[in-house]
Amino acid sequence: MTGRLTLPDTASIANQTEGGKLVAPSASRNLEPIAALLAKEAPSRGRALEIASGTGQHVAAFAARLPGLHWQPSDPDPVRRASIDAYATESGLSNIAAALDLDAAAPGWGARLAGQNLILLVNLLHLIPMDWVKVLIAEAAHALAPGGRFILYGPFLRDGSLTSDGDRAFHASLIAQDPRIGYKEIADILALLRAAGLSVIDLQEMPANNLAVVAERPAF
Ligand SMILES: C[S@@+](CC[C@H](N)C(=O)[O-])C[C@H]1O[C@@H](n2cnc3c(N)ncnc32)[C@H](O)[C@@H]1O
Repeated sequence: MTGRLTLPDTASIANQTEGGKLVAPSASRNLEPIAALLAKEAPSRGRALEIASGTGQHVAAFAARLPGLHWQPSDPDPVRRASIDAYATESGLSNIAAALDLDAAAPGWGARLAGQNLILLVNLLHLIPMDWVKVLIAEAAHALAPGGRFILYGPFLRDGSLTSDGDRAFHASLIAQDPRIGYKEIADILALLRAAGLSVIDLQEMPANNLAVVAERPAF
C-alpha cells in the first residue's frame, strides 16, 4: 500500500444503506453521463478493470449496459469492496468479478493485471499526489492489451485555472488537507499518458466542469 490519505468529506461522500451497499451522491449524478461515454468509447468485448470503484454503483450499471465486457472492480478500502460486492450480487450479473484490493499507486500491478481491453478511472487523480498519478498512469499503460483503452474522468485544472467557485473551494479544501493533492493540470495528464506510450484519442467536456480523456494503447 502506498499509504492512505485522510481526505475531506467532500472528496468521497458515501452513505451506508441496507446490506452493506454504500451510495455516493456524486456517483449517482455522474453515472448516466459516464455510461453514455462508455457506450461510445469502450470496447464492446473483453476485460475491463475499474480502478477505485468506490461504492460499486458504477460497475453494477456499466456491467449491465456493456455485457460483452467482463468487469474487474477494485478498491483499496475494504468497506468499499464489501459494498461493490453487494451491488454485484444484487445485480445477478455474471460479468462482474469479486472486488480486488488494488492500490493503483503502488508499482507492479500493471504486469499482474496485464491484458485489459478497458481500464476505467473515475474521480481519483485529484485525491492523490502527482508522484502517485505518475505510477498509476505507467501501470495502467502496462496493463492495457494492444488496442485497449484507458478512460479517465474527473475534475482538472485547465491552463492553471479552475472553472467554477465550487471547483475553487473543493481544490482549496484538498490542498488544505494535504498540500500534495488537489486538481491536476489536464495538459500534464495528457503528457503522462503519451509518455507512457498511449495515444490520446479524445478529450471531452463532461457535466459539472469535469473532463473525460480517452487514451489507447496502439494495436502494434
Ligand atoms: C472519490 S472516490 C471515487 C469512487 C468511484 N470511482 C466513483 O466515482 O464513485 C475515490 C476512491 O478511490 C479509492 N482510492 C483511494 N486511494 C486509492 C489508490 N491509491 N488506488 C486506488 N483507489 C484508491 C478510495 O477508496 C475511493 O473509493
